[in-house]
Amino acid sequence: MKRFLLGLLCIVSFSMSANLQADQKISQQDQHLGVNSCGGSMCHGRQHSTGDVVYQNEIAIWQSSHSYLGAHHRAYQVLNGALGKAITRNMGWEDASKRGECLGCHTDLVPESEQGLYYQITDGVSCESCHGGSERWLKLHYDASWDASRHADVGYVDLSNQNLKAQVCLDCHLGSNKGNQFVTHEMMSAGHPRLAFELSIFEDLQAHYEIAQPKQGQELDVMTAQVWALGQITAAERYLSLVLHREVDATLVPELSLFDCRACHQDFADAGAVFDSVQGRDDGRKIGQLVLSDYNIRFASLIELSLVLDSSAQIADLLVQMNRAVALSREPFREAVGKLRAGLMQLKARVGEASMEAETIRRMRARIFTSDSLVRDYAGAEQVYFALLALGVDSDQVNLFLSDQIAEPSKFSHRAFREALIELEAEQSSQSISAL
Ligand code: HEC
Ligand code: HEC
Ligand code: HEC
Ligand code: HEC
Repeated sequence: MKRFLLGLLCIVSFSMSANLQADQKISQQDQHLGVNSCGGSMCHGRQHSTGDVVYQNEIAIWQSSHSYLGAHHRAYQVLNGALGKAITRNMGWEDASKRGECLGCHTDLVPESEQGLYYQITDGVSCESCHGGSERWLKLHYDASWDASRHADVGYVDLSNQNLKAQVCLDCHLGSNKGNQFVTHEMMSAGHPRLAFELSIFEDLQAHYEIAQPKQGQELDVMTAQVWALGQITAAERYLSLVLHREVDATLVPELSLFDCRACHQDFADAGAVFDSVQGRDDGRKIGQLVLSDYNIRFASLIELSLVLDSSAQIADLLVQMNRAVALSREPFREAVGKLRAGLMQLKARVGEASMEAETIRRMRARIFTSDSLVRDYAGAEQVYFALLALGVDSDQVNLFLSDQIAEPSKFSHRAFREALIELEAEQSSQSISAL
């Protein structure tokens, strides 16, 4: 895990109003007018948050230096930083800041015909990367009668729609099939960081807008839990669509960045480590088989099991079938992936339908504490860390027990993480007993 996240995530995660409507279409043709067209003291260019409806200092927040709030603004600059240069050199390229393969996620890359008056590639991940090209809505959206949810027709991306928001973030934080938005194993080998993402926490880390606080006396933050759940399921589904897409392109060697890094990058001479990772395997994989990086799917299964208490749960079985099919040939594999995607879509609709009950959140937490398969790999353990924070477990405690465990992927031990998790749970229950 990147150094910055550790210890920093002492933020209680709050979230904004629910709006889980169906997807809207994002218009691809609108011109992107550039950050300068959002400036101005009557607009988003104030120094302080003095606005009545929104802060109006969004640009200043987005430009924050030395904090995650400013990461999107810096996204272009990092391409020419020391690491960016090293990656480029290792790729055998001249200049990353001219390569679509990098600009696709580090800037608001659009075709020339869509580059409007103040468009600048150097703006990095700019307002319109997320909110949509503003050609048709710029002059409408400050009107008193503006209702974001009804303006998809003018190219405005309504990010209060949780599903749409998740899709927008995942394009860059997991990858997309749109072209120029995928971090290959080659790029990772050249030095690109592994991508790690969790919707509810990452959105707090870049919030340039007001985040609703939980109501007084509300024990659990239901909305954040729902965003967390939806983020997991959407990521699981996106992952499978990347797998299918890359599988079509597969040469002799498939795209390795879609597999569990530790499947290959572990010290095979260390017998202890091997036994450790083989234990508790109930996921359909054969020992020695290449392992898909299926952590979001495992969380989706956990969400399903906490939500439906009858026998209609299906994700776990479908995942086993897919993992078995990895060792078979292409057609059975594609079929298994298709079924799993359909299962995830159903689950997503279910999560979006009604607000989550406090009891469901407690069940999810209990399952996370006791699950062995979630923490099988490093990426899963990292997501357990995010999940416990998102689901309202005391952040100091989570950091105390778990942050060392995930500080360094190469030192990760499944067994040690499990033990730390058990200790954390014991601490939690002793606290809640003493609170009675
Ligand atoms: C799929 C989207 C995507 C693509 C394509 C991509 N990146 Fe990134 N890059 C990211 C994300 C997201 C992060 C932040 C990673 C994290 O910490 O989770 C990042 C981080 C980085 C960093 C580290 C920045 C820091 O603050 O330390 C560098 C440098 C970088 N990328 C360079 C590149 C270069 C060079 C290319 C092209 C070879 C490239 N990226 C392609 C999404 C992408
Ligand atoms: C990484 C994606 C991203 C970028 C970049 C971004 N925003 Fe946002 N913005 C969001 C999300 C997500 C929300 C929350 C939407 C919600 O929940 O209603 C938001 C909310 C807002 C809001 C509050 C009003 C509303 O619709 O909720 C304003 C105003 C805003 N953004 C302006 C800007 C401006 C100006 C910039 C450029 C300086 C910018 N944003 C850049 C994602 C982004
Ligand atoms: C167009 C691509 C793009 C989109 C869309 C995008 N991001 Fe990012 N994001 C990046 C890149 C690239 C970085 C790394 C930049 C850097 O290190 O300076 C990053 C960094 C971040 C960071 C700082 C932590 C880190 O990993 O470096 C947070 C938090 C974040 N993004 C949240 C979000 C959220 C939440 C959304 C959706 C509302 C979102 N992003 C949408 C490209 C994107
Ligand atoms: C199927 C096996 C496999 C998987 C899965 C895999 N890698 Fe690799 N990786 C390799 C091989 C082979 C090399 C090349 C080793 C060499 O050049 O000596 C490599 C090289 C690398 C390197 C360059 C440094 C080094 O150790 O040689 C990095 C960094 C890296 N991989 C990161 C990752 C990350 C991050 C993931 C997960 C997203 C991942 N790998 C998944 C097989 C794999």
